Amino acid sequence: MSDTHPEVHERWILRTELLWAFGVAVFIAAALSMIVFTALTMAINPPSNVERIDPKVLHLSGEFAEHNLGTMVAADGSVTVRAIATQFMFVPSCIAVPTNRNVTLRFASPDVIHGLLITGTNVNTMVVPGFVAQVHTTFTRSGDLLMPCHEYCGIGHSEMWATVQVLPDDQFKPGADGRISCAQR
Ligand code: CUA
Repeated sequence: MSDTHPEVHERWILRTELLWAFGVAVFIAAALSMIVFTALTMAINPPSNVERIDPKVLHLSGEFAEHNLGTMVAADGSVTVRAIATQFMFVPSCIAVPTNRNVTLRFASPDVIHGLLITGTNVNTMVVPGFVAQVHTTFTRSGDLLMPCHEYCGIGHSEMWATVQVLPDDQFKPGADGRISCAQR
């Protein structure tokens, strides 16, 4: 560039800088519009399946009404647990499950976003109001497991947990209606 006039050199630098700035601006605009587009069209996404439920009335009727909560063994032997995560407790506060059988866990929230995990298992999900959070798992060892809320949900968050009572086969005896609650100890 020694024989180039300094002004030409400067114009060339300005041009490449503007070109890069333009490229970056296009990239940022594309990324932002993608975020805005998905926010407007897809709203918040639940962590598991897109299964909607009205948080305002879920306790009144349907599968999350009080008499349907807890552990249910269907006629075909499949085990389903239904629980509500609410400020600041799980209902029910103790869940009985069998060992070495497929268990489907279904949660719903009537208020804010909660989360839960079951210690030592693969169960770990958020519970987003408006959606059913569903997890499948198999409990391999009997014993009591802790199920804390792990999504900050308000002043009582640290007091929000449930117990999962994993019962060996000879103690997992549902009633005639297929329901089973935690054994009193
Ligand atoms: Cu519910 Cu934190």
